[in-house]
Amino acid sequence: MKKIPVWIDTDTGVDDAVALLVASKLEEIELIGVSAVAGNTSQENAFRNARDVLALAGKKEVKVYPGAKKPLVIDLHTAEYVHGSNGLGGAQIPLSDAPVQEKKAWDALYEAAKEYEGQLVVCPVGPLTNIAIAIAKHPDIVHMIKELNVMGGAIIGGNVTPCAEFNIYSDPHAAENVMKSGIRVNLFGLDVTHKAYLDDDDIDAIASFDNPASKLFIDSNHLLYESRAKLHWKGVCEHDSCPVIYTAHPDWFKGHKCGIYVETQGKITFGKTVSDLYTDFKFEDRHCMAFMDVDRELFSQKIIDTYRQF
Ligand code: RIB
Ligand code: CA
Repeated sequence: MKKIPVWIDTDTGVDDAVALLVASKLEEIELIGVSAVAGNTSQENAFRNARDVLALAGKKEVKVYPGAKKPLVIDLHTAEYVHGSNGLGGAQIPLSDAPVQEKKAWDALYEAAKEYEGQLVVCPVGPLTNIAIAIAKHPDIVHMIKELNVMGGAIIGGNVTPCAEFNIYSDPHAAENVMKSGIRVNLFGLDVTHKAYLDDDDIDAIASFDNPASKLFIDSNHLLYESRAKLHWKGVCEHDSCPVIYTAHPDWFKGHKCGIYVETQGKITFGKTVSDLYTDFKFEDRHCMAFMDVDRELFSQKIIDTYRQF
């Protein structure tokens, strides 16, 4: 079976780490490269965390490239309240001894997109700053990336404001440029990622494996556990694993064709992903899919099976 070439752009927080570990074990995909972007935590933390998580996964040959240290226009606002001061909820894992890459994310991504001649699937799971810079610096990249499977936004709702989700809200100008670029976007917003959760039994199963990966999961998720109790969530949402698992198992998700653009001028709506999914008015350019449902049993079992293998 021909593996799908995949690139992950990440602000390597707690759920990003799960997505990287899942990607490292999915037999349907080949992880071509990873790039770090500021978001949940600093770019420096995201860069180090991605390297270290890949080394823990036995994949230190997968190169990690440094990216943007701040959004295109607004200031950086990180999310220590969820991801802790080091991005992994304070969890400590061994440092990778892989060679440190100095090439910038947007240049490395462009080279990979050229090499894979239109077949590269890119999974941005943090703010879209690196992707926007890659498009601005290398405009022909829009013809070389097969699709962007993006964790971000929400057709309805938000988790930073009532209208905006963290990745988009963190750099709405980058997100606006990416949505207008014409690259096909499969959007995994909160509509579906809030259904993509691990419940108590799932978490107990992961803990029971008692290996370095499961220890990282347990040690890094404590802030999310606390939030969950307060917000009465059904479980711990694995937002960033949605685009990654979709790439290998698209039939586990249900999406709808629509146009999606980003609000960058509003006060109350700043950072909102505005779609025509539920409106009579339809955008002229509707090159997106908004994913709204997932088979949670298959999704959560895939994550559990990932942790069993370490
Ligand atoms: O809103 C959820 C998203 O914000 C996830 O990517 C999480 O890692 C944070 O970056
Ligand atoms: Ca993320």
